[in-house]
Amino acid sequence: MNALQSTSSIREWIVGIRRDFHQHPELAYGEQRTSAKIQELLSELGIPFEAGAAGGTGVVGLIGDPTGPCVALRADMDALPIVEASGASFTSVNRGVMHACGHDTHMAMLLGAARVLKENESSLSGCVKLVFQPAEEGGAGAQKMCEEGVLENPKVERMFGMHVWPLLDTGLIGLREGAFLASATFFDIFVRGVGGHAAMPNLVVDPIVAAAQIVTNLQSIVSRERDPFGSDVVSISAFNGGDTYNVIPPEVHLKGTVRSLSLEAQAANIKRIEEIATAIGTAHRCEVTVNFPGVTYPPTVNDHGALKLARSAAKQVVGADALVVVPPTMGGEDFSFYAQLVPSAFAALGIGNAEKGTTLSLHHPQFQVDEDALPIGAALHVAFALEALAELARA
Ligand code: NI
Repeated sequence: MNALQSTSSIREWIVGIRRDFHQHPELAYGEQRTSAKIQELLSELGIPFEAGAAGGTGVVGLIGDPTGPCVALRADMDALPIVEASGASFTSVNRGVMHACGHDTHMAMLLGAARVLKENESSLSGCVKLVFQPAEEGGAGAQKMCEEGVLENPKVERMFGMHVWPLLDTGLIGLREGAFLASATFFDIFVRGVGGHAAMPNLVVDPIVAAAQIVTNLQSIVSRERDPFGSDVVSISAFNGGDTYNVIPPEVHLKGTVRSLSLEAQAANIKRIEEIATAIGTAHRCEVTVNFPGVTYPPTVNDHGALKLARSAAKQVVGADALVVVPPTMGGEDFSFYAQLVPSAFAALGIGNAEKGTTLSLHHPQFQVDEDALPIGAALHVAFALEALAELARA
């Protein structure tokens, strides 16, 4: 079977599904329509599935012989709270919600792969698990899927995923040895003082000055404490306090994110944010509380063996000349939860085409995808599965 020929022959089907998902985006853990659509399509294809995973919207399909080796392919399902401004004819009908991270394409490409794999089911030397997972955007849906046993029964031995990548031209596939995406954690810092008249600072405890010092001092974690050859980021992204000219507010609320390509460095970063913020607050007579809402995503680390399979799969689909070594990114990705448990590889699928306007970054309100990449991504999923099953059969 030629995977790319097979997926190219169903290009319009894949594109149609993608546009339908795009037009009806849903936020993390609210992917009800999306889930129903996936279930409907799997039923049409005759692929057995289990629905209701990870809070209700996750769907896991199975193709092939469950008594043989098992390879999993993953697509994330959720959209973002962004008002779409892409101008596409299939623009979001849910105003304020947008598939601005390409998860619509991820699902459509996995369904395209599922159709091709189902047509070739008798030749599979094992089985392929299709993992449609909710809540990648901050909700750690992958962690829930793992806790609920998505990697068991049948036991997954290799796992693959991909993300559309505007920085790469359409037709290119990016792979990277080792850490590819960062560990990511959000934090809140509440700085409490005593408010009062701005003309009498001696009678207040000023949380603005204390918070400003905290922002400045947190910058020394990366510059003074981390290995200069490592990759870490501490960003304060919100600084909220006060309303007017002549009142010192009682409280300032800071928000930010801390990221690292190393899990050990990330643990140290988190500890130091808490220590520095609290100590600086104390120095300024303020009370400081540091919270870390949500779940820390681990770094997404490609397994050496799984990456070799991914490389060979990608070579079959686009040819050796179209394989690119991508630099790591400080973006986070909850595919990392699977990769911690199963030898896995995560690829970057080029969608960039300047003429079509598809080079804007992920999460941009005008984000668009070059749909010529969809048959390529679907074929890549097919090739991932076939390469990994062939290797597992040899072992
Ligand atoms: Ni994404």
